[in-house]
Amino acid sequence: MKIDGTHYRSIWREPSGEVRIIDQRWLPHELRIVPLVTRADFADAIRDMWVRGAPLIGATAAYGVAVQMAADPSDASLRETYDLLHETRPTAINLKWALDEMTRALHPLRPELRADAAFARAAEICDEDVEINRRIGLHGLEIIREIAAKKGGGRVNLLTHCNAGWLATVDWGTATSPIYHALENGIDVHVFVDETRPRNQGAQLTSWELNSHGVSHDLIVDNAGGHLMQHGEIDLVIVGTDRTTASGDVCNKIGTYLKALAARANDVPFYVALPSPTIDWTVSDGLREIPIEERNGEEVTHVQGRDAEGRIVSVQISPDGTPARNPAFDVTPADLVTGLITERGVARADAAALAAMFPDLAGR
Ligand code: MRU
Repeated sequence: MKIDGTHYRSIWREPSGEVRIIDQRWLPHELRIVPLVTRADFADAIRDMWVRGAPLIGATAAYGVAVQMAADPSDASLRETYDLLHETRPTAINLKWALDEMTRALHPLRPELRADAAFARAAEICDEDVEINRRIGLHGLEIIREIAAKKGGGRVNLLTHCNAGWLATVDWGTATSPIYHALENGIDVHVFVDETRPRNQGAQLTSWELNSHGVSHDLIVDNAGGHLMQHGEIDLVIVGTDRTTASGDVCNKIGTYLKALAARANDVPFYVALPSPTIDWTVSDGLREIPIEERNGEEVTHVQGRDAEGRIVSVQISPDGTPARNPAFDVTPADLVTGLITERGVARADAAALAAMFPDLAGR
């Protein structure tokens, strides 16, 4: 997407061959671009959340494999790189999906052919992600259009959680793509942005994206969504996902489940923007089978911001030594989901509908 007239992706390869990312730890204060040079850089970038968001984690891992193939294309190196990158974060299935794609493309090749093939497949994974998200936007647009028509052309108020915007993907975003497409089609959209404690991806990243693109929005605290729904201020919810089971259970950023409960109680449609690489066809019980990342409690006991001198600082908000739990994701059972907006169309959140939408992928 464009920032101050320049089109950026969240990850790209320079003509010099260098892979660069937007280091998201500095946003919204600073647009800082950094190169990732060794496979250790790629592992750090995913683990320490310089990049984050399920599709971008996958794309970054793909380039991490490519960079390592240029350094050492042996079988052992391919295997070790898979393991190193795979263990960086446990929940988003796009990570494993991208590593499997790379392995499938590279393993049959002679080592001396692997580097070029790896960079080509990583670039393809990025381009495919952009196209998937563009298509999700077109299918989501129809949902928003219908709601706008029901309201006699009035403003459509949408709530989103965390950051499922272009920074979480290679471009467009999943949950935000329908918003950008709706605006391009002249539909008046307003977005309520959950701040998304503890890391505040909504406040820091989604607000920055929407602000950069002139999209009408209000940042709200995580607990405000239910209240707004009760008062008819939200027409629909669209969130992203880190892993969706073959039966349509949706794992996403912690707090998504509470929004789904509030949406059901208030008859607000709850949609999930779902790229096909985020479907884990090997699991069907989201509550029991998806590993939930537990992060450092300090993310809960502290908040991050910027001081008067422009330095990023962490401020303690609870008594010294307060114990904290920090599960980073939760699972919304399929029956709370109105529909899954995929690149092929909108599917019901159930096994039969997903398998019918992706007969070529189901069961893999
Ligand atoms: O911990 P994060 O910031 O990687 O979590 C990101 C999310 O939960 C997003 O909603 C999800 O990856 C979907 S991104 C299109």
